[in-house]
Amino acid sequence: MVNHSEVIAESAQRYIDEVAQAEKAGDEQFFFWFDNASTLEQYFDNGVRTLEGEILTEKVRNALGSTENASALEIGHGGGRILSAACGKFQHVNGIDVHRSNEPVKRRLSDAGIDNYILHSTDGTSIPAGISDLDFVYSYIVLMHIPSMETFRQYIAETFRVLRPGGVAQLFYGRYSRMSWKARLRWYLPGYREISKAKTNYTSLVITRRTAHKIAREAGFTVLDSGSSLRPDGKQKGIQNFMTLQVPK
Ligand SMILES: C[S@@+](CC[C@H](N)C(=O)[O-])C[C@H]1O[C@@H](n2cnc3c(N)ncnc32)[C@H](O)[C@@H]1O
Repeated sequence: MVNHSEVIAESAQRYIDEVAQAEKAGDEQFFFWFDNASTLEQYFDNGVRTLEGEILTEKVRNALGSTENASALEIGHGGGRILSAACGKFQHVNGIDVHRSNEPVKRRLSDAGIDNYILHSTDGTSIPAGISDLDFVYSYIVLMHIPSMETFRQYIAETFRVLRPGGVAQLFYGRYSRMSWKARLRWYLPGYREISKAKTNYTSLVITRRTAHKIAREAGFTVLDSGSSLRPDGKQKGIQNFMTLQVPK
C-alpha cells in the first residue's frame, strides 16, 4: 500500500537538498538549476516570455480582465524568473515552493526594485492556509515533477480553494502523448500511474488531457481552454500540456 505523505515528503526533501546545494555553489548554479540559460539576464527574460506567451494567453486575459489590481499565485516559483515578470503585471504575487532557498531570489528581486510579493514554503501538496480570494493561480514546469496523481489532485483542490468566484488558473502538467514507447509500456504497469520516483527535474508525472480535465471538473472548475507548451523555438510542442480553468461565478 502506497503511503502518499511519505512519498511527497521524500520528493520534497530531494528538491530541498539539491536546491540548497545549488545555492551554495553560487548565483548562476542556483538560478540555472531551475531553468537553464546562458546568462542571468536571459534567465529572467525567459520568464517574461513564458508569462506573456504561454501563461497569460488570450483566453486567460479575457477571463481575468485588467490585472493591475489583481492578485496571483505561482505554484513552484523556483528561482523567480516568472514570478518577477508577474510582479510587473499584478498588484500582488505569492510564490510557493518546496525548496527553502529563497534568499538569492529575494536579493535579485530587491535589486530589480520588486517588492509586491511574498514567498512561502509548502509541504509539496498544499497552499498556505491564510491565502484566499485570489484572482489567478499559475504553475509552469512543476506539476510534471510531482510524484503522484494524488498530489496532482490535491493541488487542483487547493487551487480551487484559494481562488475567488470567477478566478482563473493556468496550470501546466506533464504531457502523456510526449512519452517514448518504452515509457508508454511502463505506464500500463500496475501502480505506475499513481507513483513515480523520477530524479529531480525529470518528468515524474504525465497525465492525459482527458484525465486532467476530469480531475479539474470534479474539483468544481469549468475548463475554458487547453493546449501544449512550446519548445524554446516557439514552434514545436513542448513537454507539457496546459489547462485554463475558472471557478464558476
Ligand atoms: C523546473 S523548476 C521550475 C520553476 C519555475 N516554475 C520556472 O518555470 O522557472 C521546478 C520547481 O518545482 C518545485 N517543486 C517540486 N516539487 C514541488 C511540489 N510538490 N510543490 C511545489 N513545488 C515543487 C521545485 O522546487 C522547483 O522550484
